[in-house]
Amino acid sequence: MTGDDIDRRHHFAQDCAREAGAIARRHFRSCEAASNIEKGRHDPVTQADLEIDRFLIDQLAGAFPADGILTEETGGAPARHLWVIDPIDGTLNFARGLAHFAVSIAFCIDGRTQSGIVYDPVSDEIFTARRGHGAFCNGRPIRVRTTQGPWDAIVDAGYSSRHPAADYLRLVHGLLAQGYAFVQNGSAAMGLAALACGRIDGFCELSLKSWDVLAGLLLVEEAGGWTGGFPHGPGLLEDHEVLACTPALRQSLQGLLLEASPLRGKTPLPSV
Ligand code: IPD
Repeated sequence: MTGDDIDRRHHFAQDCAREAGAIARRHFRSCEAASNIEKGRHDPVTQADLEIDRFLIDQLAGAFPADGILTEETGGAPARHLWVIDPIDGTLNFARGLAHFAVSIAFCIDGRTQSGIVYDPVSDEIFTARRGHGAFCNGRPIRVRTTQGPWDAIVDAGYSSRHPAADYLRLVHGLLAQGYAFVQNGSAAMGLAALACGRIDGFCELSLKSWDVLAGLLLVEEAGGWTGGFPHGPGLLEDHEVLACTPALRQSLQGLLLEASPLRGKTPLPSV
């Protein structure tokens, strides 16, 4: 696949993300958005998730029929050329009328994310990154903050009931003990976009899916931040720990995650 082929996908996916966001806006704060099916504890799926999922699959499969597609609501399998999609990341926020959710689209080749798009339909901000070409918000270049240290930093520490609460409590305890400010905003894609554009300094969660984070991780890397990456191949379908931050916080946050995680020391975070 040539650079032009990737560019075509990168631009097409931005148009798709905007249209998907328009669908989310139409449903947002409606009675329908609030009536949802619970996939798990605090883990709903709404009509809008399903509609956007279908819309994005139809668009991308129509334009690039040979590419594989993996989405949160429909599933899929790893492939050499693969779209990884979360129709709405932050569904719980969306279902409750909280304006913090995003459409997330990543395009990967041979296990490496080449294009990442996170669209916030409420603020109409589109965060885009193409590997090797930088990260942007509404077309303007973005960079991570120059963080001085924990006392100067805000970390979004995501929580999922898929992971033992005791580990999360250890993580939060560690963050506060080292002087970090922390938030738990309920959308990994939005947290990573906020890190990429310098609004916060770090993002971590003990258990996340590829569709929640692949686009956002590329945003952070292209904006000059550090990430622990996400496994590709069969690992793409499993839950993994995720850490991304400004370079100054890498050591401190890696240490806190290792202390909090039950697999402490056994699965060192891969370096990018
Ligand atoms: C969720 C969000 C949330 C994270 C959960 C994810 P979804 O994704 O990314 O921030 O804490 O672990 O499941 O279900 O809203 O797409």
